Amino acid sequence: MSTRTARPLGPQLALAGTVGKRVDVLVIGLTSTSDGPEIALGDGIVDESVLTDLLDTFVAVGASGKAEETTRIPAPDTLPVDSVLAVGLGSAEKLDAEQIRKSAGAAARALSGVGTVATTLSVLDLGAAAEGFALGAYRFTEFKSAKSAPGPDAQPVARVELLVSSPRAKESKDTLARSSAIAEAVATAREFVNTPPSHLFPAEFADRAKALGTDAGLKVEVLDEKALEKNGYGGILGVGKGSSRLPRLVRLSYTAKKRNAPKVALVGKGITFDTGGISIKPAAGMENMTSDMGGAAAVVATVVLAAKLGLPVDVTATVPMAENMPSSTAQRPGDVLTQYGGTTVEVINTDAEGRLVLADAIVRACEDDPDYLIDTATLTGAQMVALGNRTPGVMGTDEFRDRVASISQEIGENAWAMPMPAELRSDLDSKIADLANVTNHRWGGMLAAALYLKEFVADGVQWAHIDVAGPAYNSSGPWGYTGRGGTGVPVRTMISVIEDIAANG
Ligand code: BES
Ligand code: MN
Ligand code: ZN
Repeated sequence: MSTRTARPLGPQLALAGTVGKRVDVLVIGLTSTSDGPEIALGDGIVDESVLTDLLDTFVAVGASGKAEETTRIPAPDTLPVDSVLAVGLGSAEKLDAEQIRKSAGAAARALSGVGTVATTLSVLDLGAAAEGFALGAYRFTEFKSAKSAPGPDAQPVARVELLVSSPRAKESKDTLARSSAIAEAVATAREFVNTPPSHLFPAEFADRAKALGTDAGLKVEVLDEKALEKNGYGGILGVGKGSSRLPRLVRLSYTAKKRNAPKVALVGKGITFDTGGISIKPAAGMENMTSDMGGAAAVVATVVLAAKLGLPVDVTATVPMAENMPSSTAQRPGDVLTQYGGTTVEVINTDAEGRLVLADAIVRACEDDPDYLIDTATLTGAQMVALGNRTPGVMGTDEFRDRVASISQEIGENAWAMPMPAELRSDLDSKIADLANVTNHRWGGMLAAALYLKEFVADGVQWAHIDVAGPAYNSSGPWGYTGRGGTGVPVRTMISVIEDIAANG
């Protein structure tokens, strides 16, 4: 069992009706119009004449209201704070929840070293402002020793007071509770992704997932290499056998209080490091393959979140964990393995390992007879070729795929529906086994990977496969509420889909 002590994954979040005396910085929003910036009103919380004076000063120092621009000025005597930070919201007509989330994140990133802030962004959208501040303030500093640890001026903001007209209303409290829980789940997924492969290998990942699950009251089952062998999980074993750190399959189940609730199965790819195996990857950029358990991280965080929110849906996460390494015990190109359930596969390319571990987990997940199955994985470089770094691809059964894509766009993770062209399927035929793990060409690589997974999804299950190869990991500079490293995508899509299933079946 893991012996790490939990550290806070974000700032303290609280509701407030007025700017309190202990607040250091007030954060307001500026929209941009053709006549220059305008203050997004604090609806009676901050005196309007004070805000009008502030606008003049912000304009004088060049603030434009451009999305995510931050400008900080000393506070006037009329406000009980030291300074006021204006964050751009972009054009007022285009303003939506995701822009508020991103702008709040940009403000949080600009406020390192500040103790307590209060914000009026929450008057526009409490949930989005809370999530944006919490996620924008997330940092991963576990491996910074005293030699390079951030000093007091670089500490993330410690406390955020979200101004609303009715801080004591149940609706405000419920909204903040939900958003805090979501932000914590996203940060949990980020934390897993950011933990390097030296420290997060299959057995350790399984231990940490188990600890989180147990704390949340979930039923936990961990299959070690012997149990995997005994039960015929050939895909997980084949991928994992090149490493001295053997694979695991973790199952976390949340059962709703409500009887006969809809059943959702989650499956996430948990390759703690992907060298490619014997089909080894080039050295340049290989360090980013620490993110190859991003799908697993997201589903572990999501099932725990569903339990914390007490949703009336049964959710089970089935999570294969393995390290894909080249060695004398590794599988070879040309090997044949037997997936859980009996399908034989010719492993043409050991770097197409994600689909091998996922297929075993999908077959296992379908044994529970779920109504819906969502799998997510950093599955293909082709996802990034097709959609870029920030747009997940969703494939699956038509109706559910479109529902997942549309919800994902609403909540700002922006997954996009992609097809599974039938003619690509025969390119996965093998001369000697039931299937080959790759096609002999590179066209439609994301779609071909989905077609491989489709072979393992039971009939009648509504299925969505979310490829997050790019979106799970930010290897460039920070933007909005997304810092460098693990992003936690697609936790917010999955929890919103589960909430939608709770509401509409
Ligand atoms: N983990 C990679 C996919 C990936 C690439 C994720 C870049 C994040 C960033 C996956 O296991 C992989 O190697 N896929 C191969 C499949 C190919 C061999 C059919 C790929 O995309 O090249
Ligand atoms: Mn690979
Ligand atoms: Zn991989």
